[in-house]
Amino acid sequence: MPQAEKKPTITVLYDAQEKSVRKEEIAEGKKVPELVSTQIEKVLTKRGYTVKVLAAEAPIKRLVRQLEDDNSDLIFNICESLGGAPDEERRIAAVLELLEKRFTGSGSLALTLATDKSLAKKLFDFHKVRSPDFVIIAPGRVEGNPSLTMFPMIVKPTAMDASIGIDAKSVVHSVEELMERVQYIHNEFHNPALVEQYIEGREIYVSMIGNPPQVLPPIEWDLSKLPPDLPRIAGTEAKWDHDFKEAREFVPRDLTQNEEVMKRIQDVAINAWNALLIRDYARIDMRLSDDGAPYVIEVNPNPWLDSRAEFAMAARKATPEMSHGDMIERIVELAMAHPIRERSAI
Ligand SMILES: Nc1ncnc2c1ncn2[C@@H]1O[C@H](COP(=O)(O)OP(=O)(O)O)[C@@H](O)[C@H]1O
Ligand SMILES: [Mg+2]
Repeated sequence: MPQAEKKPTITVLYDAQEKSVRKEEIAEGKKVPELVSTQIEKVLTKRGYTVKVLAAEAPIKRLVRQLEDDNSDLIFNICESLGGAPDEERRIAAVLELLEKRFTGSGSLALTLATDKSLAKKLFDFHKVRSPDFVIIAPGRVEGNPSLTMFPMIVKPTAMDASIGIDAKSVVHSVEELMERVQYIHNEFHNPALVEQYIEGREIYVSMIGNPPQVLPPIEWDLSKLPPDLPRIAGTEAKWDHDFKEAREFVPRDLTQNEEVMKRIQDVAINAWNALLIRDYARIDMRLSDDGAPYVIEVNPNPWLDSRAEFAMAARKATPEMSHGDMIERIVELAMAHPIRERSAI
């Protein structure tokens, strides 16, 4: 009897806080989807993999021991934070690297570059990746582009995600509003403020998978139906309203049929991927200006893999079509094939 091909054994590593947040939401009577770690566990088990899950939490010494003792062939790393702190995402990857563990997604260097928006933008300038003009304002220090003089601008913390610190007041129209918001970012997040040119235009998410990456069909989030008093941004208010989000995300056919615009989107996406040394998969947030120029707003390595999120949606729309299970399995295959050490800069 021919021996069946042996599938790698897998440990799904995720931030334990996700579980406690979910419990609270259930207790509040909210309708909450299954954890992504559970979704991954289920789809891979169904496909014949041996899977377990590990919730990452402090104390770190215990986590390191748990990882050391783990004898799976692969860590499926969806830890985008530790105890909710996004800054620890890169350190978890660094621990996995030091322990010589094979894991999915980007390495610690890429996670460091991409999650610090100001570092990423400095690299974008060098690599000619179009992204909004910017200045960085830290207490007592200003760096950046002196040609940034036109309002509106948008003010963000340099190192946060999930729209933390991005809301209706982020878009500023005067020096007074700008100064106020910069101070708010300093006080609230102890983070330098990233001030960017506000790009009027369409909100586009570009998912990528592979080494080298395949660019999946873009997903647009139509923000035009937000209440008129809110700026047209994917800030806290818009993201909280899940129904609004799901109802208004789609593949923009006018763009996918426009070869010229698609080429621009693909080129800028691949350049951004390369500039930040991304591996396996990522989602790039863009704004498409009214004259059809794509601006990179943010690169998300290891984006959210929920079956209803933009990444899975883009995979389903790809040719050939990738189901949520196909997409998860593809990430496993990519991680099994890439070198155990992360990509280097050249
Ligand atoms: N320069 C900009 N011009 C226009 N909109 C922006 C700009 N920067 C951010 N936004 C809006 O704010 C949203 C969140 O910004 P982003 O930098 O992606 O933060 P997060 O890490 O919270 O996703 C974007 O999806 C976009 O709608
Ligand atoms: Mg974003």
